[in-house]
Amino acid sequence: MNIATSAGVVIWLTGMSGAGKSTVARALVSRLQAFALRATMLDGDVLRTGLNSDLGFSAAERTENLRRVAHVAALFCNEGFVAVTATISPEPEHRENARRIVGESAFVEVFVDTPLEVCEKRDPKGLYQRARRGEIAQFTGIASPYHPPVHPDLTLHTQDNTVEHCVDHVVDYLVRNRRFAIGHVGERSLKMANLRAVVSGK
Ligand SMILES: Nc1ncnc2c1ncn2[C@@H]1O[C@H](COP(=O)(O)OP(=O)(O)OP(=O)(O)O)[C@@H](O)[C@H]1O
Ligand SMILES: [Mg+2]
Repeated sequence: MNIATSAGVVIWLTGMSGAGKSTVARALVSRLQAFALRATMLDGDVLRTGLNSDLGFSAAERTENLRRVAHVAALFCNEGFVAVTATISPEPEHRENARRIVGESAFVEVFVDTPLEVCEKRDPKGLYQRARRGEIAQFTGIASPYHPPVHPDLTLHTQDNTVEHCVDHVVDYLVRNRRFAIGHVGERSLKMANLRAVVSGK
């Protein structure tokens, strides 16, 4: 069985609505957990139903929303988790703030680069249709800009690749660039490793 070791890291997925951030984040967290790593997903939509439910979509509120997401991600990261965030984060300053909050060495900016036409065709939540009818103000890509990263750490092309391939790409990046190591252990040693983790509370 393969297990992995990693220091805490924040994988910050950015891209337009429908680009595939939540889908990739979910699959990536499952993959990392299958490596016996502590990994968690921080989905912008989910956080907006609770912690950030007081915020709308004005420029100032988006900045505040993403500041909070970055701080939550940093808390997980400092506890040794791989925190995978899924937020549109349309402005370079949003991503730069998040990088500053988390710290350069632990921050991986991943551009989920899916063209607007593809996102709009997918329209998994019917939001583009509603935005085109003028029912959603400040919808990114339609009535509010998305400024893509110029130098992301990693870019995923979801229109040409499967979700699993996108996850492979992130894992390869972590192994090559972020001291993420994958090793093989027998079932018995894995059980012992987990037991020690439980006993030590880590
Ligand atoms: N390679 C791929 N990676 C991710 N999603 C894909 C891929 N291929 C097809 N899809 C589909 O694209 C859609 C992406 O929707 P998803 O909710 O993940 O987008 P999102 O970026 O989280 O949008 P939002 O910002 O609105 O939350 C899903 O229906 C998913 O099945
Ligand atoms: Mg999403």
